[in-house]
Amino acid sequence: MKFIHISDTHLIGDEYRSLYGIDPEFRLKKAFQSIDRWHKDASFIVITGDLSNDGSSSSYEKLKAIIRNSTLPVYLILGNHDIRDNFKRFFPQYASYKFVQYSQKTEDRVFLFLDSVVEHSPYGKLCEERLSWLKNQLDTYKKESIYIFMHHHPISCGLYEMDNVGNFKTKDRFWDLLKKHKNIKHISFGHIHRIMHSCRNNISLHSTRGTAFQVAFRTDCKEEYLTNEENPTYAIIDIDKNDNTRVHHHEFMNEDRIYAGEC
Ligand SMILES: [Fe+2]
Repeated sequence: MKFIHISDTHLIGDEYRSLYGIDPEFRLKKAFQSIDRWHKDASFIVITGDLSNDGSSSSYEKLKAIIRNSTLPVYLILGNHDIRDNFKRFFPQYASYKFVQYSQKTEDRVFLFLDSVVEHSPYGKLCEERLSWLKNQLDTYKKESIYIFMHHHPISCGLYEMDNVGNFKTKDRFWDLLKKHKNIKHISFGHIHRIMHSCRNNISLHSTRGTAFQVAFRTDCKEEYLTNEENPTYAIIDIDKNDNTRVHHHEFMNEDRIYAGEC
């Protein structure tokens, strides 16, 4: 099976004309067009937070309109820029629990969607209640392969601001919980607006770029949050019958600029 991972769409409210000079809505529409063109066989799309840049009603309205045209199921989680109550007004299917945290089960796999948001804070965490929910899910699904989605990066990324201001505060408790379970296969996250791959406790992890702006890889910079003009991506995650994962990152904005060649 395969799924598509989109992150950090940062849609803006009607009162803004652009974000760092780009139009997040245009880019997200392009991503969905590309997915519809090439990946109709995917099982689902997941968007790992910062759906909105400002938490506004009009930004969630835009997201709803784009998702409405998708032929694939779309699962959403929130990021530090999102506002839960506003989001739930437009996506009432997520309103049954105070956190946007839930699971989806197939025959032999379980997908866990975590809510790491502390509203109005750049950092994230899982409070006691959310950690307890996660523990309960992991205790329930011991035979299935587990795949986790979250906004904040549960490992350090090497960027000062991300690792010190916008970091995941309950990293240690999260990993303490996970290390008791050997059936967790892969974690997909967002937030850092960069492509990154890692492995911890035999669990592979990846993030993909935002569909909106990107964050520059400047490890020398402690004062500012630097955006840059790297192209947006979405990720395609293929999982074989033995739960081996393969992750590709696709730059969808110029995908028709292709040329014949030889390997
Ligand atoms: Fe973001």
